[in-house]
Amino acid sequence: MSDNRVELSLSELGEGELTQVTVGGEPVCVARTGGKVYAVADQCSHVQIPLSDGSLEGRQVVCPWHGAMFDLETGRPTCGPATEPVKCYAARVEGDVIVVED
Ligand code: FES
Repeated sequence: MSDNRVELSLSELGEGELTQVTVGGEPVCVARTGGKVYAVADQCSHVQIPLSDGSLEGRQVVCPWHGAMFDLETGRPTCGPATEPVKCYAARVEGDVIVVED
């Protein structure tokens, strides 16, 4: 398996939860919310805090440090202080597995 592709069991990530995986050597935040899975770079674009330590608000991840929010579909900040987007990764469910790819 390429290290640009990571799989985790769907049972490892409950609805409303966040976790960190490594894709291509980079930390990636995987989120399960609204019956879908998303993956974005696991570093807030404000001060590089892991977003996987934050929380979910609908389809947005909330940074645990200063509360910036990022749309998980686009990576764009929807609430400051962050102004730059975070990178989005491809994420999907295949059977009972979550696949994340760069
Ligand atoms: S480190 Fe994320 S909002 Fe400041």
